Amino acid sequence: MAPEYQHLGRGNDFSGMMLKYRCARALTIASMAAIVLLALASVFYPGLKGTPEFHIGESNKDYAQDYDVPVPIESPDTVASNDKIGTDDYTITEPEGKCSLPTTLTIPKSEDGSYTPTSPHSDILAILSSVPEDDYEQYCQGWRKLVKPDYPYTYNLNGECGNWQEKYAALHKRRLTQLDSLKANDLDKLDSQDRPTYIAYKCVQVATNGNRGCGGLADRMSGMISTFFYALLTDRAYFAYWDDENPFSLDILFEKPFIDWHYEKSAMDQLFIGDVDDDYFGTQPVDTLNAKWPTMENTLFPDGASQNFSDLWTASLVQVRSNRGYIIHTFESSNVYPDILHKMGLNVHNTFGCLTDYLFKPTIGSRRFIDAYKNLLDLESIFSVGIQIRTGDNQIVNPKEDELTVESYSYFLTCANQLTKAYRQPYHKKVVYFLITDSAKLRDEMMDLNTNAATHQEYLSSKDTVVLTTGLPIEHVEPAQVAKYINITEPIVETQEQKVAGINSAVIENWLLANTNYRVISQQGYGKLAAFHSNIDGTTYGMPRITSKHRAPDCGNPKAATSFHDLSMLWSLG
Ligand SMILES: *[C@@H]1O[C@H](CO)[C@@H](O)[C@H](O)[C@H]1NC(C)=O
Ligand SMILES: *[C@@H]1O[C@H](CO)[C@@H](O)[C@H](O)[C@H]1NC(C)=O
Repeated sequence: MAPEYQHLGRGNDFSGMMLKYRCARALTIASMAAIVLLALASVFYPGLKGTPEFHIGESNKDYAQDYDVPVPIESPDTVASNDKIGTDDYTITEPEGKCSLPTTLTIPKSEDGSYTPTSPHSDILAILSSVPEDDYEQYCQGWRKLVKPDYPYTYNLNGECGNWQEKYAALHKRRLTQLDSLKANDLDKLDSQDRPTYIAYKCVQVATNGNRGCGGLADRMSGMISTFFYALLTDRAYFAYWDDENPFSLDILFEKPFIDWHYEKSAMDQLFIGDVDDDYFGTQPVDTLNAKWPTMENTLFPDGASQNFSDLWTASLVQVRSNRGYIIHTFESSNVYPDILHKMGLNVHNTFGCLTDYLFKPTIGSRRFIDAYKNLLDLESIFSVGIQIRTGDNQIVNPKEDELTVESYSYFLTCANQLTKAYRQPYHKKVVYFLITDSAKLRDEMMDLNTNAATHQEYLSSKDTVVLTTGLPIEHVEPAQVAKYINITEPIVETQEQKVAGINSAVIENWLLANTNYRVISQQGYGKLAAFHSNIDGTTYGMPRITSKHRAPDCGNPKAATSFHDLSMLWSLG
């Protein structure tokens, strides 16, 4: 692992100091003075918006011309929230700067009608009662920000995701304008040197028996992000689509912070009907569902390492059905793209996460819930290990009670204890094991460790260790599909609301798993997704299934980590 990438992970810069520093370097003395004033203002008036944390000055645009320098960009709504400073922002309730949290942390009802999660677990407050004052203050200020109606989305503030975003957004916009010309059959308006090309990730099929459809969240994310990766490297506009019934439109799950990836299925189906070679209206299916690594290698690099991706699929509209990732694969197999990507500020560590956060912004309620936990995990006094235990699809529908005990799965805790022993620093006052599992029974038993002194001592190596969960509903993206394997006669019928809550929970927990210092995961797609999204290689440990638990690695040994390379060769690839 290259050490210079270590800082690229999240969680190290809650304060935005790094950004202030970087901006300051590029700004004139005058604007530097302004930054200092604003920074001071943020110290004395913490509620004040428009502080440098979210404020990128105009002069930064020039700085953007230099392609090697990473450029922070903002989503339109962060920009909007900077522009207007409401009167209540000046209301300082506690002038001494002492902030105190409410007795329960309740996520406000989402202003736009989108999903509102339940309250974050009360253990968060319990943990905060034993962190240093500065950390409590920091969390409290973060909480105050996140309950506000215009809570901003932060992305690439320190340039950690490179410098390609504005250029791609402009390309995407141009392609959408061209699409309007195509729809109006105004072909004269098109520039023959700049053929409009599109690529769409499509999850259409409702899963039927013996066919896994589009797969779960991890499958879908793998397919969606790699499809965008291709779009980015070949100047295609990108779309992503989930059928309304499978289990609901993707537009409900994620906002579109920077580009409009909404796919108008019926309009596109009517417009693109030509064969591959048609100048403007050709279409072409690409299906890599469940493809194995050698098939992906043959598909992506038929001409070998110098393969130009633009030559792979040439139709105006490429329609992709896939649950396969090929980002790390490309870094390793191509002798053309790694250089291009590095110039864009992308590398084998940050690409998956940076592309994900660029495309898909969780809706406001989920984002608040994520940050209510993330802000805790980010505190300097907290050492965190994410533990994700998949007990199997069976457990969701038909739990095998006898196996779902702390004792059976204690090898995950052993690994977490080894990580704590190896990496915990003296300033880590608390150790948080953030637990995700598909078994409600196992989750309850693990939570009981917090209150049972005897089992706490037996399974958790340090007395400062707390097991933390979200308490959100446990769900599979394709519950009906899972149910079919277990109980064909009466598949589970869920309301739309339950489905939305369930899939949001899967997103929230996955995004949080990406934010822990280390991860102990079941070696399947879901944990892998979080490992890639963490942007830090070498901090994830894959655990064997329960039947081979004697083969669990010694997690105190860094060599036992499951690397991005290893992960990219398994399951949905990468
Ligand atoms: C791939 O080919 C296209 C022309 O078809 C060209 O514009 C592009 O620069 C090539 N990409 C690379 C990486 O060589
Ligand atoms: C299927 O589900 C129904 C209702 O939950 C239950 O009564 C039945 O026993 C289940 N069948 C099997 C084979 O699990």
